[in-house]
Amino acid sequence: MRSEKRRDVRARGLRVAGLAALALLLAACAPHATQDSLKPQGPYAREIKNLFVPVFWVAAAVFFLVEGGFVYILLRYRHRKGRDRMPAQTHGNTRLEIGWTIVPAVVLAAVMVPTVATIFDLARKPPAGALNVTVEGRQWWWNFKYTDADMKNAAGGPIATPDVMVIPTGRPVYLSLEAMGGLIGGTNPDFEVIHSFWVPELAYKQDVVPGRTNHILLQADHTGTYFGQCAEFCGLSHGLMRFRVLAMTPADFATWASQEKQGAASPTDPFAQKGMDFFLNGSCVQCHTITGLQGAGGVSAPDLTHYANPAHSCAASCAIDTLDPSQLSRWLANPAAIVPGSKMPNYHLSADQIQALVAYLRSLT
Ligand code: CUA
Repeated sequence: MRSEKRRDVRARGLRVAGLAALALLLAACAPHATQDSLKPQGPYAREIKNLFVPVFWVAAAVFFLVEGGFVYILLRYRHRKGRDRMPAQTHGNTRLEIGWTIVPAVVLAAVMVPTVATIFDLARKPPAGALNVTVEGRQWWWNFKYTDADMKNAAGGPIATPDVMVIPTGRPVYLSLEAMGGLIGGTNPDFEVIHSFWVPELAYKQDVVPGRTNHILLQADHTGTYFGQCAEFCGLSHGLMRFRVLAMTPADFATWASQEKQGAASPTDPFAQKGMDFFLNGSCVQCHTITGLQGAGGVSAPDLTHYANPAHSCAASCAIDTLDPSQLSRWLANPAAIVPGSKMPNYHLSADQIQALVAYLRSLT
């Protein structure tokens, strides 16, 4: 009876070990991970990796020493048949105890030196010439406001891009992180909650906390798209709260900024004009801004002035591709079907209204 029970326990142990090994194997199935902090693409992310690697090896050595000693003692001094006498009891060993107090203290002190140095280094004031961007964490999207004096839009406010932050390569970007909330369209609450801003390839992670402004620096070595993600549970669509950082050459960045400074032009296509009229006379303007369109100045939802600028390429927390009109149609038909809990209401638009709105939004380059 007892041996049967033991066999059961052993079988269960094997199953658990097998599942754990499978999980480990599957966890390694990402040859081209886009959010890999071990492949830093800029100096600030590199500083974090340079700290992580030595600390990891120290921790690994400690792990194998402690666990190895533990397993050795378990096996070496296990109970054996026919040896039922009580082993000699030891009460304290001063030399050993001093040893295992001092050695960990020395190891921790050794780890602390580069850790504290990195913390201070990353917390330093922005270098001269940094690009200043205010990042707003909303439910559930990110807004990027370019606050430098030479980054004003046609209305005199900061250029703002939802979901995609555009930066020049080789230049530090100083971020001011703020949590935002409020009533959308006067009724729908957008709760001010904690988010966490993380672009693993470009910077370390930083919480975005209501009522205070946190700062981090990021920088990209090369042009390209870097993927970011909210890293703090913030409500129903936390897992969909994605964004992108688009790094351009300084020349391309200047060209992009000069486009962004322009307000939106009225469309010439009559169908798109119909969409613009609907946008103005419907509920859209309560929440959305389109610089250059009189009466569209809402601030609780994404600024759509350059919605269809091909550089931005994603909208609605990057759940939709702005270059694909069918995705925008699906979004307008039922936002919550794409981003559950989305603060964008379902206005039960007709197919005609949706098509006109899509034509208008697609004219906003
Ligand atoms: Cu925002 Cu999670």
